[in-house]
Amino acid sequence: MKKIKVFDTTLRDGEQSPGCSMNLSEKLQMARQLDALGVDVIEAGFAIASPEDFKSVEAISQTVQNCKVASLARCTQGDIDAAWNAVKYAKYPRIHVFLASSDIHMEYKLKMTREQVLESIAKHVAYAKSLCNDVEFSAEDASRSDREFLSKCCETAIKAGATVVNIPDTVGYSSPQEMFDLITFLRENTPGIENVDISAHCHDDLGMAVANSLACLRAGATQVECTVNGIGERAGNASLEEIVMALKTRREYFQMETCVNTQQIYKTSKLLSSITGVPISPSKSIVGANAFAHESGIHQHGVIANALTYEIMRPSDIGIPQNSMVLGKHSGKHALRDRLNQLGYEVTKEQLDGMFVRFKALADKKKNLTDHDIEALALSSTHAVTATYELISHVVSTGKDITNIACVKVKKNDDIIEEVAIGAGPIDAAYKAVDRITGLDLSLENFSLNAVTDGEDAMGEAVVKLRCGNELYTGCGLSTDVIESAIRAYINGINKIVGAK
Ligand code: KIV
Ligand code: ZN
Repeated sequence: MKKIKVFDTTLRDGEQSPGCSMNLSEKLQMARQLDALGVDVIEAGFAIASPEDFKSVEAISQTVQNCKVASLARCTQGDIDAAWNAVKYAKYPRIHVFLASSDIHMEYKLKMTREQVLESIAKHVAYAKSLCNDVEFSAEDASRSDREFLSKCCETAIKAGATVVNIPDTVGYSSPQEMFDLITFLRENTPGIENVDISAHCHDDLGMAVANSLACLRAGATQVECTVNGIGERAGNASLEEIVMALKTRREYFQMETCVNTQQIYKTSKLLSSITGVPISPSKSIVGANAFAHESGIHQHGVIANALTYEIMRPSDIGIPQNSMVLGKHSGKHALRDRLNQLGYEVTKEQLDGMFVRFKALADKKKNLTDHDIEALALSSTHAVTATYELISHVVSTGKDITNIACVKVKKNDDIIEEVAIGAGPIDAAYKAVDRITGLDLSLENFSLNAVTDGEDAMGEAVVKLRCGNELYTGCGLSTDVIESAIRAYINGINKIVGAK
């Protein structure tokens, strides 16, 4: 089996997509999980983009143990210095230099001639190489570039010391056959290319990113760039879970394998969705809620007789927990910790204490606590912050054609503060009451509410995006009562704002 390297760009290209921005601790959490997932390279960010980006790339480099850590850089000395200064702490650092190679980008964006582009590649790849042994060069908009010129760009980068040449379908324009032909052409016409990794980086504007990436691999690419849940610029990047599971499920056909521990896929996908508050579509391949659900009678009959009739993968292959009844209100802290560990969540004593309080409160309301409930608790604890404000109680009065009134009581240090407000709906009224308590000037940019477990006593998870100044904060709240979830999410976001000040 041929080994394919998985280059994850969730924290760089993925994070560029609307609603997916993450703060430093969220990026670190995600990076640790990507390391556990077993990807070969984490692209941690674009170090020059802002001081915050620099700090996250640096912190990830200092944290990650197993995989390579890359930072993106344009072809300028300043970008390359910033990338190196941020990744130099990594066990395996990489500088990822890029420059566009298509005529349209060179003429209108770069305002550079072909000769100038080649000179810049030679100069900046060599400069990156003088700092770091592992240098990736990307020819932005490669799929719309003149093939001979693209080949020259790759040859120049290889001569200057690149260890990887990346061929992006930046605007998601290509078809699988075209990407196959392009990689084949480059392999046949680029001196030195046999000594470096060829990488595929496909966007999903026409819904072909995964198919295009697989076509590149079949044509001889040895690295594939992708993101968890397929997040990324515009329509997203090729989805990591789809590529990895395609290679695993169709192993005999592709004759390729990756180092990804597929049983960590579900947890990674859920973590990202919980951190960003961007829900996963139910019909999303591999990780969507319906990906393994068989609704029609004919399918159910077949699956009961033999799962292979309709199932090409098992839920356990990607680490989906079994929805078995596991714990109840008489279960103790040890049982909760054991179950969390079995589900793959390592928690500190403080995290366990906090979760146990919420577990008991939940067990009072719900008779049967399943793996999904425990998982929802574990994921919501990823949003745990110092609770400057703590929800004590709330009452809302709502209905059709009446004024919506909310009364919210919170604890701040040793003080109990209570406020009443009216609003356009019960949640709006509750948020206005909380605003009166905190006195903060913030705006609610996004609100979502999803059932995260099944049944009539399902838990609802509310996620809010709060803007305070230039920063966006994600708050998350979980309860069987949707109004309570919404208030908890708002207060969680506020606690993050207060904690960051
Ligand atoms: O899509 C693209 O071209 C990129 C490059 C910077 C690698 O993300
Ligand atoms: Zn991209």
